Amino acid sequence: MALVPDPASRSALPPFLRACRGLPGGPDDRVPVWFMRQAGRSLPEYRAIRGSGSILDAIRDPELSAEITLQPVRRYGVDAAILYSDIVVPVAAIGFGVDVAPGVGPVVEQPFARREDLERLRPLDPEADTPYVLETVAILAKELPVPLIGFAGAPFTVASYLIEGRPSRTYARTKALMHADPQLWHELMGRLADLAVTSLRSQVGAGAVALQVFDSWAGALSPPDYERFVLPHSRRVFAEVADLDVPRIHFGVGTGELLGLMADAGADVVGVDWRVPLDVARGRVPADRALQGNLDPAICLAPWKVVAEATRDVLARNAGHPGHVFNLGHGVLPETDPSVLERVVELVHAEGRCDGTAPPAPGSDRER
Ligand code: CP3
Repeated sequence: MALVPDPASRSALPPFLRACRGLPGGPDDRVPVWFMRQAGRSLPEYRAIRGSGSILDAIRDPELSAEITLQPVRRYGVDAAILYSDIVVPVAAIGFGVDVAPGVGPVVEQPFARREDLERLRPLDPEADTPYVLETVAILAKELPVPLIGFAGAPFTVASYLIEGRPSRTYARTKALMHADPQLWHELMGRLADLAVTSLRSQVGAGAVALQVFDSWAGALSPPDYERFVLPHSRRVFAEVADLDVPRIHFGVGTGELLGLMADAGADVVGVDWRVPLDVARGRVPADRALQGNLDPAICLAPWKVVAEATRDVLARNAGHPGHVFNLGHGVLPETDPSVLERVVELVHAEGRCDGTAPPAPGSDRER
């Protein structure tokens, strides 16, 4: 870590923001933890207030969305909140014809197929198109006891939904388009990068203090294809929010082979899924980046003893490195028992070290 912070400014930062910056904590500081998809999904209090319409309707209700964002903060004691919204909100708001089908994910009436479809992707005007997002963020900036993470879908992952028309296993149409018509592909990615930048900037303008870019499905690509077809656009997204001076997190699933290239895109924090042990991931990104991850979300369905051991293994592999934001390797699974996540937070707070001192090795006799 190149940075040697002065102790006064260090203690002024909440643990999550300190870790994103890779700054060492004091002896009493804690490893911050939050969970991707912590808002919604497994919480009974979420199901109780969510209603039955499209999630896009719930997102258009600022009071409701703010409450859903707050629920996991209260329940779990996590160190950051993630805005209750979705990666397809900007494209839906400019009228591309996207909805989110319960239990399925984003579905598109008329998928992106040809050059004329670019006209359906006009720029986003956040105040006119997504005023409800700004209002939700503003409510949260006042009410939250922890930092608020704003987010956007990365150009590739959003493009995959627009082109496939629904969630895909192979991304065949997406890959066919990028290889068949690279020029059209780059224009599409350019427009989606603009949408992401505009949306991210507006969220920070309203009060978000960190940003995450979800390139959830980038792991479908080979490194050369990622480098040629995706990296320039994701790099531009990070560059065009750099002046906001908030930590920028970059996450994808199955991206073990892409971690170095993803780090090249410029984020401060690189998200790691559960497939790459954290110590191995550390070797794949430059030393000045923090890591976020990477407990396998499926392990949270196992008995507590197993979850505790896996949690300790993540901490041990991080070995007290100050640049670690504890998280799952992907989103909370809907069937997760919330009390397990509550215990994971307690354990990370109790045993995680962020001052360069490694926690006890997993398997050591510390089970409680
Ligand atoms: O807690 C949070 O993470 C905050 C809110 C959030 C949602 N979506 C709400 C949501 C966030 C950060 C997202 C991002 C998102 N959306 C991603 C990237 C993160 C990831 O998991 O990789 C992706 C790929 C999407 C697209 C999407 N939206 C899918 C695939 C689905 C359906 C499947 C599912 O996960 O249930 C959605 C719907 C969705 N977005 C739900 C929630 C809480 C569940 C459905 C609902 O309550 O209506």
